[in-house]
Amino acid sequence: MYDKQRGVPQGLTRYEDLADPRFRGQICVRSANHPYNISLAASILAADGPERTEEWARGLVANMARPPQGGDRDQFRAIPAGQCGLAIANTYYLAGIGASERAEDKALFARIGVIFPNQAEGDRGTHVNISGAGLVRTAPNREAAGRFLDYLTSDKAQQMLALGNMEYPAVPDAPLHPALAAMGQFRAEPVDAARTEAHAGPALQIMQRAGWR
Ligand SMILES: [Fe+2]
Repeated sequence: MYDKQRGVPQGLTRYEDLADPRFRGQICVRSANHPYNISLAASILAADGPERTEEWARGLVANMARPPQGGDRDQFRAIPAGQCGLAIANTYYLAGIGASERAEDKALFARIGVIFPNQAEGDRGTHVNISGAGLVRTAPNREAAGRFLDYLTSDKAQQMLALGNMEYPAVPDAPLHPALAAMGQFRAEPVDAARTEAHAGPALQIMQRAGWR
């Protein structure tokens, strides 16, 4: 996310670009050990391999505007405050600001621009965090659990998640919150929970080695 008053940042179309020295002192992001950042780094590790991921993490740390702190909202709130030029955050937090009736929230939402990274033809797409559900192999009540999963993908439950929590719905024809729709469309990186699980531990080690607190 970026400050619309300063304009679209040049040379920032991929997550990998966040390590470019041209963004020195600009990036705000929360701590490394939050699942959002672990899953982001896991996706980069899967795509780029360990050496390039460590280089990326070191470059990103060198570009940080301040030590990691706060939650997602604190990152993009620090943009108009002048502390950060760029913030790494999930869209549903910004959409929550966009859905607010308070004048200061409306002003903040109008000021923050969103870049969906890695959109070029042949690139992997923008990383997404999931609100996921599954059935464990040893589940004692398989049938009831299956019915619950059916419910979670029903129109009603999807509407609750999409409109109530401003998440992108998991079923294509469920409604999209207008504040999310206002951010534009993007192609998402395919979600592979097994891949994330396999890369999460090594990804966190790389981030910590790179000095991402
Ligand atoms: Fe969250």
